[in-house]
Amino acid sequence: MTNRDIQKILISEDELDTVVTRLAAEIDRDYSGSDKRLVLLCILKGSIVFMGDLMKKINVPVEIDCMRVSSYGNGTSSGGSVNIILDVMRSDINTCDFLIVEDIIDSGRTLAYLTGYLMNKGARSVKTCTLLDKPSRRAVDFTPDYIGIEIPDEFVVGYGLDYAERYRELPFVGILKPEVYKDSDE
Ligand code: IMP
Ligand code: MG
Repeated sequence: MTNRDIQKILISEDELDTVVTRLAAEIDRDYSGSDKRLVLLCILKGSIVFMGDLMKKINVPVEIDCMRVSSYGNGTSSGGSVNIILDVMRSDINTCDFLIVEDIIDSGRTLAYLTGYLMNKGARSVKTCTLLDKPSRRAVDFTPDYIGIEIPDEFVVGYGLDYAERYRELPFVGILKPEVYKDSDE
């Protein structure tokens, strides 16, 4: 049963599973046999569902950590700056090989900022993995190391992604009906 506010399912549960399995295999391939200390860094809150599924499918040993940032208000368009709301709390950053796990890359500002931020803090390496990519929306030149699926310039919800904090629990990625924005913008 789909949610009544959803216009269309863009990526089904089965497709998501296939994509996450592929990303985990790519990460295994790149990190296995290395002396890297892989720390999966979940970017709260949108990446929580993707992170949980991805980490279960990765075979190399991982540690996990979280950061929370905001670049969006309540609406559907990006603000210009990135604010850190919850920082990574550890004293051993210089021995960590971070893989930032992000739900979606849009303007590219969040991932570009976080990569620089962690490198400045002395991380041994920083790579990025995004489930969804909207390449047509890029405002800064940034290409993630691992990309799940490219999607068109549509605002999507579900599988962790929200609109005004709703719809994160949906097991698929879908496009909202336009009247949902209209009602709440007024
Ligand atoms: P960027 O900094 O513009 O690349 O924005 C990335 C962040 O914007 C993501 O982590 C999401 O939180 C949010 N975002 C961008 N597009 C969407 C969308 O279609 N649905 C929900 N959140 C989105
Ligand atoms: Mg996010």
